[in-house]
Amino acid sequence: FRRLGLRGMKQRLLVVANRLPVSANRRGEDQWSLEISAGGLVSALLGVKDVDAKWIGWAGVNVPDEVGQRALTKALAEKRCIPVFLDEEIVHQYYNGYCNNILWPLFHYLGLPQEDRLATTRNFESQFDAYKRANQMFADVVYQHYQEGDVIWCHDYHLMFLPKCLKDHDINMKVGWFLHTPFPSSEIYRTLPSRLELLRSVLCADLVGFHTYDYARHFVSACTRILGLEGTPEGVEDQGRLTRVAAFPIGIDSDRFKRALELSAVKRHINELTHRFAGRKVMLGVDRLDMIKGIPQKILAFEKFLEENPDWNDKVVLLQIAVPTRTDVPECKSILFVLRLLCTYLIRISKAYKPNVALVTSLRDGMNLVSYEYVACQGSKKGVLILSEFAGAAQSLGAGAILVNPWNITEVAESIRHALEMNSDEREKDTGITMLIELNDTVAEAQMRTRQVPPSLPSQTAIQQYL
Ligand code: G6P
Repeated sequence: FRRLGLRGMKQRLLVVANRLPVSANRRGEDQWSLEISAGGLVSALLGVKDVDAKWIGWAGVNVPDEVGQRALTKALAEKRCIPVFLDEEIVHQYYNGYCNNILWPLFHYLGLPQEDRLATTRNFESQFDAYKRANQMFADVVYQHYQEGDVIWCHDYHLMFLPKCLKDHDINMKVGWFLHTPFPSSEIYRTLPSRLELLRSVLCADLVGFHTYDYARHFVSACTRILGLEGTPEGVEDQGRLTRVAAFPIGIDSDRFKRALELSAVKRHINELTHRFAGRKVMLGVDRLDMIKGIPQKILAFEKFLEENPDWNDKVVLLQIAVPTRTDVPECKSILFVLRLLCTYLIRISKAYKPNVALVTSLRDGMNLVSYEYVACQGSKKGVLILSEFAGAAQSLGAGAILVNPWNITEVAESIRHALEMNSDEREKDTGITMLIELNDTVAEAQMRTRQVPPSLPSQTAIQQYL
């Protein structure tokens, strides 16, 4: 945020994302309780400080009646949040359908839905219409709250049609759009039937951001190959108008995690777990229960490790926190079924526990902030991170982690053994990134120093000038 020059900025910031940072649960006709929402987008944006920001989004619940809507709007206002009310039908077509059954798998290289392919093809048009209608509903709420000079920051694959809605309303609005998932190779992206409309809409934004340079590069080549537009070092040019495109790798608020370690409830929890697993090494996985996270592959790799290293039996335990997510999306349902077959049980524990090894085996992942959170919680412990090379975080944490191809369970099993048997000198060396964070650094800054910057991509100065 500091890099963008937004910290302490005078303009107001309107963050627009499908999901609000808090999700609502109804406790009575006009009674609501709010709890923090799960997922990388929320973790990342909770680190935004010293900015006059409001957040517009869906509270994750259907509220058909006016009394409920008024009470929820009031409760959310205290959190500087503004709700967009989506009814069940639109949630089904837009959120479960177009966003999470079409765009999500496609952007993570799983292709268009395999199951029930013909039905999906037939429903495609109606789901895309619902997607555009939903984006218009977000835009309508933005118009109600917009004041001249506000900066509007749209987030993620749910809202690719929003930049166009906003600019059609007022060409002078300052609009940014940031993607929290990978942007796939143009060879994958071009299979999407609505590829033209979505690219054209995103290009209505003034600034388009991605987690990594690769994603930005894929986006620029999609614009070149599909729309025939020219990619320049600053972005994409269309009839003399430039949309700036750049990589802004997000980090986390690492102090929040360090502070959590000092809380007495967390300390008590750590003691309980330490006692419970005494004499055993602990490996931890923390993921939303999503097909892209590679949880079944992780369990198969762990099984292989135990088969090939019988000495480790009874000396190591794998704890997997699996947060239920998108439970109405068919793929998310089937992953639960697969996991039930693979595991006898899944245990929920606090993220702040300090296990010996963290295992992140995403098949694709925009960034994967859990890996940052694990590193931030280490202190002097120097646990080892095994990290999928297909997570955006591999481009920054690579030097301080053991990188694996999660599809290769033999390689992951060997990495597990290596991680468990590392001596403290090796761990010190392989967790170099931890030290950077301890020096009061932010992950994003650490990334800036360690990554290779391809010469053809937009320069930082260009972004600063824009802002
Ligand atoms: C990912 C997406 C976010 C999303 C989060 C949780 O991190 O990039 O946009 O909010 O998952 O998913 P959900 O569908 O529960 O909002």
